[in-house]
Amino acid sequence: MSSAPIYEATASAPVNIAVIKYWGKRDTKLILPTNSSLSVTLDQDHLRSTTTSRADPSFEADRLWLNGKEDQITAGSRLETCIKEMKRLRKETVEDVDASAPKLSTYKVHIASYNNFPTAAGLASSASGFAALVASLAHLYALPASPSTLSLIARQGSGSACRSLFGGFVAWQMGSDPSGSDSLAVEVAPQSHWPQMHALICVVNDAKKGTSSTSGMQRTVETSPLLQHRIAHVVPARMADISTAILARDFDAFARITMADSNQFHAVALDTEPPIFYMNDVSRAIIALVVEYNRISLAQGKGYKAAYTYDAGPNAVIYALEENVREVAQLILSYFPQTPGEFKDVLGIFSGAADVNAEA
Ligand code: ADP
Ligand code: DP6
Ligand code: CO
Repeated sequence: MSSAPIYEATASAPVNIAVIKYWGKRDTKLILPTNSSLSVTLDQDHLRSTTTSRADPSFEADRLWLNGKEDQITAGSRLETCIKEMKRLRKETVEDVDASAPKLSTYKVHIASYNNFPTAAGLASSASGFAALVASLAHLYALPASPSTLSLIARQGSGSACRSLFGGFVAWQMGSDPSGSDSLAVEVAPQSHWPQMHALICVVNDAKKGTSSTSGMQRTVETSPLLQHRIAHVVPARMADISTAILARDFDAFARITMADSNQFHAVALDTEPPIFYMNDVSRAIIALVVEYNRISLAQGKGYKAAYTYDAGPNAVIYALEENVREVAQLILSYFPQTPGEFKDVLGIFSGAADVNAEA
């Protein structure tokens, strides 16, 4: 007895946390950014999206369930674009090349994705989510595509997602081609280059944020004069300097640039009309603590020990080298005991590279 083949694949992708922030689009449909950005992919199990895709000739529509609840795939949406682009790659690179390959690009897909952490809370769920979606379809379709090629498609789901196709230290080059063909992610260094680098995720609030990244950054593009200064005169030098710092394993330079860029990102949010506040009192108290901790260390001639950065939400990510990570975590916990609703959790998390896992 023969049974119909099952075409299904699962992939998981981790979040990445930017040290040079992406904030602003020059093309909102293609998701082309106003500046390049650079991030560290967090190689751990706590902040991941896991996505299963199945193609079947009996399916009547492309459908997606996020955390068990169906999300409508509307015409012209980012989800629709990503799925369509992946089908196009399947046709062009597999089916047109090998006439015997099953015509999976003509089948509808059903996709189920789970985040093991809060969605839309400023912990980069759109990054791991769209990276896992693209990785699972790439596996389902057996695409001979590089991570940079897949990053071009993940970018059209959510800009930050393009960087989660790589582990380690990753740059998203803004590119200049209006088609977006050179706006992609590249590896700056693998995690193994600097395995001492750790990240502590301090979950201050895991509620859905008030202003989504997408709408917030567009308002900034339309109204903030400071953003124009940032993209023309600040980010290009910072991209070069932080890449140099990473390649030289220079934590002092890495920490200075990371904190300065987080500060400027939140300054352009405040410079937006009406202003956007992503940090809260607890976020600011953590900044004060890290600043004081570094001041004491610098006075002792020991250099920087910790670098904070905040995305579009109140949650702190603190980068620290392995030798200091325990002390930093204890310091934070001693000042901010885990009070529900105020300072919920500090996850001691190893950060660095992660290969996007895929399994059939
Ligand atoms: P975050 O700070 O969590 O990245 P965003 O506002 O940037 O918040 O994006 C949140 C949106 O990303 C969700 O509303 C959803 O549309 C999308 N998203 C999150 N996780 C997934 C996933 N696993 N698969 C597909 N889309 C996802
Ligand atoms: C502050 O990638 O979530 O985290 O492209 O509109 O989906 P869309 O936005 P998104 O923005 C991320 C903003 C950030 C900085 C960063 O990750 O670089
Ligand atoms: Co996001």
